[in-house]
Amino acid sequence: HTPELTPTDEAPECAIAVDVLRATSTMATVLAAGGEAVQVFSDLDLLMEVSEKWPAEKRLRAGERGGGKVDGFELGNSPLDCTAELVEGRRLFISTTNGTRALQRIQDAPIVLAAALINRASVVQFLLEKQPKTVWIVGSGWEGSFSLEDTVCAGAIAHSIWQQTNSSLEELAGNDEVASAIALYSQWQNDLLGLFHQASHGKRLLRLQCLEDLKYCSQTDILDVLAIQHEPGVLKSQNK
Ligand code: MLT
Repeated sequence: HTPELTPTDEAPECAIAVDVLRATSTMATVLAAGGEAVQVFSDLDLLMEVSEKWPAEKRLRAGERGGGKVDGFELGNSPLDCTAELVEGRRLFISTTNGTRALQRIQDAPIVLAAALINRASVVQFLLEKQPKTVWIVGSGWEGSFSLEDTVCAGAIAHSIWQQTNSSLEELAGNDEVASAIALYSQWQNDLLGLFHQASHGKRLLRLQCLEDLKYCSQTDILDVLAIQHEPGVLKSQNK
């Protein structure tokens, strides 16, 4: 679902936010590199206010609008800036155009995860172990619209579960969106970078000279990290 299409009638047991380009890829990277937590904000002023109360050497502030870094913030939203040297032991306070809002939108679900292609296997493993009754995968899109990269990631998650459980597509999907996300992934799984070149936000990032980010975010299963919500808006890696 894109946030606008998120059903409101019934809450899921597990809700997964996806913003492959680039917010959830950045979050997975920070937690894999030893970041203490990621705390998300839709509002930049509130981010500043809350993070001011945190010890300066234990915090990092990331602000992105329109794909670019917000003035006064240490980081924009490039996962490649999140090296272990920089993030280890620190909390990332982050606000992005779409990804952090998608997370806030689902923060009341009993289980909330942030997923990207780079940590897809960890998410799948968690779902197979935990077996939540209902799962929403919420693509962040761009200002409310559909996005190829988030849909293909939802498809990558569903495809892997489908393969590992030998379930029928009908059993697994239950709706047309999941079936089409799986089809999209099946078609592009060997050229995800090629798909990102066709995606509107991929093109926006290319105009901003972010080809390396696209390459990094198009990799599948490279990080063994589960980003899971501990309190509303605060995600940690599962083992912490
Ligand atoms: C977002 O949250 O809108 C994206 O992560 C934007 C970006 O690529 O920085």
